[in-house]
Amino acid sequence: MTAQPATRTWTNPLRDPLDKRLPRIAGPSSLVIFGVTGDLSRKKLMPAIYDLAHRGLLPPGFSLIGFARREWADQDFGQQVHDAVAEHARTPFRESVWNRLAEGIRFVQGSFDDDDAFDRLAETVHTLAEERGTGGNTAFYLSIPPWAFPTVTKQLARCGLASSDEDAWRRVVIEKPFGHDLDSARELNAVVNDVFPEESVFRIDHYLGKETVQNIMALRFANQMFEPLWNAHYVDHVQITMAEDIGLNGRAGYYEGIGAARDVIQNHLLQLLALTAMEEPVSFEPTALRAEKVKVLGAMTAVGPFDETTARGQYTGGWQGGTKVPGLLQEQGFSKDSTTETYAAVTLEVRNRRWGGVPFYVRTGKRLGRRVTEVAVVFKRAPHLPFDSTATEELGENALVIRVQPDEGVTMRFGSKVPGTTMEVRDVTMDFGYGHSFTESSPEAYERLILDVLLGEPSLFPGNEEVELSWRILDPVLDYWAREGTPEPYEPGSWGPPSARAMLARTGRHWRRP
Ligand code: BG6
Repeated sequence: MTAQPATRTWTNPLRDPLDKRLPRIAGPSSLVIFGVTGDLSRKKLMPAIYDLAHRGLLPPGFSLIGFARREWADQDFGQQVHDAVAEHARTPFRESVWNRLAEGIRFVQGSFDDDDAFDRLAETVHTLAEERGTGGNTAFYLSIPPWAFPTVTKQLARCGLASSDEDAWRRVVIEKPFGHDLDSARELNAVVNDVFPEESVFRIDHYLGKETVQNIMALRFANQMFEPLWNAHYVDHVQITMAEDIGLNGRAGYYEGIGAARDVIQNHLLQLLALTAMEEPVSFEPTALRAEKVKVLGAMTAVGPFDETTARGQYTGGWQGGTKVPGLLQEQGFSKDSTTETYAAVTLEVRNRRWGGVPFYVRTGKRLGRRVTEVAVVFKRAPHLPFDSTATEELGENALVIRVQPDEGVTMRFGSKVPGTTMEVRDVTMDFGYGHSFTESSPEAYERLILDVLLGEPSLFPGNEEVELSWRILDPVLDYWAREGTPEPYEPGSWGPPSARAMLARTGRHWRRP
């Protein structure tokens, strides 16, 4: 340990925990973003900060400090934030909100190995405490590649920003990839924990900030009717799908050599699976929730033989909708013989009493038929159907589908009598849609997560144990694929390579067509 930051959580005097009407407003604080010129900052972080300000959830003296190599003055950086907000914010642009936010915008110019720049950053943080009453409370958002983490965290420690003598809190926010396998994840955790104690580290998995993902817990633990069915006695299998229709244009720098499984399964999809399969936590306190996720991830394993239970693909050029699109090998920045997969599907099992023998199929891919994320719990068929065999020809399995996006809600599928003089049963669906049931729209995941960082509430951030366990689950599959070499080609606009269909067909099942 080179430094010991204060970890006390600021308690908002306006916030009576018993009064649910009061919003959660962050206390005096500032946010430093490293990597302000990147896509994530422009499209997600800056707009989310504005949206929080617009909703009145930031403190009056809130300050935003950008750190980058560009030769910018405060005003130039302010203009960048302004443009990003105007283009990407969720809530309408209001001059008065913007002007208040703009008063607290600062920029520090420098590179990560520039001691002077970090000293100037420290000075800026201290000045803002005096001028704007931030109390010195500061979150450092590392929206930068992991190779830069050691340099930046050491610089923060060197210039005295990683801890505070004045009782101010200091937190660090890191973005995936948290390593590329178990060993590198351990190294990365050690680097970060060398400077910031674990309780000050906030690892972003933005899926946990999505309303519909948190709704998995509401659905399971606020209701009585699902729990009796939520086990191997009634569930045949679970399918978790995260499909995207976009390609990887412009993302080679990040994606080449990483691929779909590391990009999405190791984090978002295993977190969805953990929330679906875990036991009820004793409370939603961070330690209680994490304990359940750690337990279920610890019981999870990728099932082999991997040539039959996994699938791995790469999109080719072709037509998607009415548009001609290039294959991955023709996308700029990817090598002509790249073996990076853009589609990945894996079979998992949770080895405990609740789930023993139930396969959990997870799949993700780019340039698929449409953008959709869902968790589908597919139930066993009734053991006996007292109808003529022709009456139930169009009856599938009952299913409960949690629609994460874009059409947020929950669907229940079951059999119903077709109107008429004969007994014929066919699948019907019953739907809950957020848009129909609630008037307020869902906040963006980054709004929720940035606010939670400022409030010091770590429930929605995976701890390092979860990250390491997720790598432990995936590493054997990644090793197998690395030995296999080339992924199987698939057409844009399709639902992945033929091996994906075969992997389920072998067990008499099929992927849902969302
Ligand atoms: C990111 C992945 O974590 O999630 C991207 O790196 C992916 O490859 C993105 O496109 C999808 O996020 P969302 O919120 O649009 O589903």
